[in-house]
Amino acid sequence: MLNKAISKLGTRTPSPSISWLMQKSLEKPGLVSLAAGFTDNFSLPLDHVQSAMSSILSSQNAKPSLQYGSTVGDPELIRLTAEHLCASDNISSGASDLAKRTIITNGSQQLLYLTVEALFDEGDIIITEDPTYFVFLGILQGHAVQTRTVPLTQNGIDVIKLEALLEELKRSGSLPRLKAVYLVSYFQNPTGISTSAETKDRVIELLRKFEPDAGHPLYVIEDAAYRELRFPGTPDIPSLLAKNSNSDRVIYAGTYTKPFATGARIGYGVLPEDLFTVVYNLKGNHDFGSSNLLQQLLRHAIQEGLYQDHLKTLQATYEAKTRVMIGAIQEHFPKSVTWQPPLGGLYVWAGLPNQTSAGKESKLFNQALEEGVIYVPGELCYAPDATRSVPLHEMRISFGGAEKAKIQPGIQKLSVAMNKIGIL
Ligand SMILES: Cc1ncc(COP(=O)(O)O)c(C=O)c1O
Repeated sequence: MLNKAISKLGTRTPSPSISWLMQKSLEKPGLVSLAAGFTDNFSLPLDHVQSAMSSILSSQNAKPSLQYGSTVGDPELIRLTAEHLCASDNISSGASDLAKRTIITNGSQQLLYLTVEALFDEGDIIITEDPTYFVFLGILQGHAVQTRTVPLTQNGIDVIKLEALLEELKRSGSLPRLKAVYLVSYFQNPTGISTSAETKDRVIELLRKFEPDAGHPLYVIEDAAYRELRFPGTPDIPSLLAKNSNSDRVIYAGTYTKPFATGARIGYGVLPEDLFTVVYNLKGNHDFGSSNLLQQLLRHAIQEGLYQDHLKTLQATYEAKTRVMIGAIQEHFPKSVTWQPPLGGLYVWAGLPNQTSAGKESKLFNQALEEGVIYVPGELCYAPDATRSVPLHEMRISFGGAEKAKIQPGIQKLSVAMNKIGIL
């Protein structure tokens, strides 16, 4: 029965898809999970963390590291983060400007949550890529944010369709409700696609063009969660921070979890000056600062080169796991299934013939469970958008969490399920 004491936010917030997927896995012990967005368990940096922790706890910094820190985060970790971003984006001066606009958060997930709180009132509009990161969709739904969606091309969001959507919002008088465009710009979750520098520039250009009709700034939320997880030899693409002229419109969400240890949940955000204060105030009310001990861990790991060392191992590990997955897909998947080898990140996005469902309630999903394998039904990654129907024929398959030795059998089981329901 409806509990009238529950807030609107509480009532609207959907049960996270991730909980549903975990429940499915628990119901079937021994299931090969190609669903989890978990990182590789085997290569977690146990030795590095042990040595870092023992240095921290035997240093002069031992007691402060076990105290509360500050809302914004450890100043040295902020400085290192800004320097790291300047190096990645080839910004020769400006680390101190970036540092002033950087806040440390509990993973980039918290930064995304705080950003939604800072920008959106009920009924406001966000434009997302279609498909997109499904956990972010849960935050939007909880806050009653309307989603409008734009499909992807191989270079990221389709800028021609984005422009058409902005025109449509202008014509219908809805532009004042639009606040931001959300891009998962590196090895996107779920498709693996990266946004080209040209596409990023065009998105900013378009938003600036439509700002007078919106009557306020239009922001780009650049979610760079997978930026560091590029396979060896894959060039980095400049982020939107690379151009100083974008600094008043870009919200950059970065993370140390995926490139180091997801259990050390530290991420960060770089924000335009005026938004920085709002996010800072909100974070003050959320938790008045992320775990100081974990921040010291990251700081130490970066200062001592342990982070960089581990990242190299991880990049090679994921490339090797991808090769196993792609090899198995080539060998076992029916010919009608489409997919692309990723150049980084954790995911392969596969498409069945259009009329075949891979959705939550589909024969294929249930058959896959029967065979002992689970994937993320692609439908979960599509935002509610009344102007299009949700495609059901896709699936996200992850090589992140599954043991390397289980990837081939997992893909084989999935192929058996496909064969059994008649996909050729
Ligand atoms: C696209 C994307 N953004 C952000 C996050 C949040 O990651 P974290 O909070 O560990 O930084 C994830 C996690 O899976 C993700 O896939």
